Amino acid sequence: MKKILITRRLLKSCEVKAEKNFDSIFNSNDELYSQKKLVELSSGCDGILSSLTDKLDSDTINKLPETVKIISNFAVGFGNIDLDTAKKRGITVTNTPDVLTDATAEIGVLLILGACRRASEGIESARAGGWKWSADYLIGKQLTGTRLGILGMGRIGQKIAKVAKSLGMIIHYHNRSKLSSDKENGAVYHDNLKDLLTQSDVLSICCPASKETVDMINKETIEYLPQGAIVTNVARGDIVDDEALIDALNRRKVYAIGLDVYKNEPNLNPGYLNHKSAFILPHLGSATKETRTAMANLAIDNIDEFFKTGNCKNKVN
Ligand code: GLV
Repeated sequence: MKKILITRRLLKSCEVKAEKNFDSIFNSNDELYSQKKLVELSSGCDGILSSLTDKLDSDTINKLPETVKIISNFAVGFGNIDLDTAKKRGITVTNTPDVLTDATAEIGVLLILGACRRASEGIESARAGGWKWSADYLIGKQLTGTRLGILGMGRIGQKIAKVAKSLGMIIHYHNRSKLSSDKENGAVYHDNLKDLLTQSDVLSICCPASKETVDMINKETIEYLPQGAIVTNVARGDIVDDEALIDALNRRKVYAIGLDVYKNEPNLNPGYLNHKSAFILPHLGSATKETRTAMANLAIDNIDEFFKTGNCKNKVN
């Protein structure tokens, strides 16, 4: 039986599956392991089932024992893992695509709705009581007829586009390549970021974090947005330069934001907290029972497939 370090708690049924399939080391207190502890615990392991909270940078991967042959990340994103170092060390890295598309797109749509319709302020007022209805009380931006720019039209972007279209939004997108017309589903393609941003009354960031996308939304690119645009991010905090976005909010260049992801989670830039128009969530994208179960089962299956066949369809390096 292969010995696998499972760095975070999984839902019960998934831990039962892991226990059947592997000699599993569980994290019963769900503590956040330091890089040092993670390396120590992986001694004698054949693989690691990691989560997005584990920083598997180059230095940490280089310290892993020779026995570790796979890192199966319990996430679709893998920006927490240095893929090149893993490759150099002969370690396969896998992710959990597809199974979290719907849940993450739901949160993507919630961010758009929450930011456009001033949900944070509304919730605060409803809880405080004593609010006074009036014709112009907490007036927000209507989605119907508004242009939605999708940055990264992968599976999650396409699902957000589908729902937003049904709400009457007009969809634009930027991707490395133009999609086939059935996947495009009437959306307008822009082959560069600037053109997309100029058409985005609402921006939905859905692209993966990579060296190319870090700080893609920055002081310069924010200026391409229409005055009073709304910025939402369901992908990764690394794509946004926080200071630039907070400054744009302060200047009302950006009207509102909807964020589920941040740089340095869970310590988000305090500048966001001062803004009533910030609709912010604590990285809930895939947080449904169905999805977290499917993700963990897939992360386990990825390890099984790798050890049975020497390969895995969800390999990312
Ligand atoms: C969630 O953020 C994921 O990448 O799976």
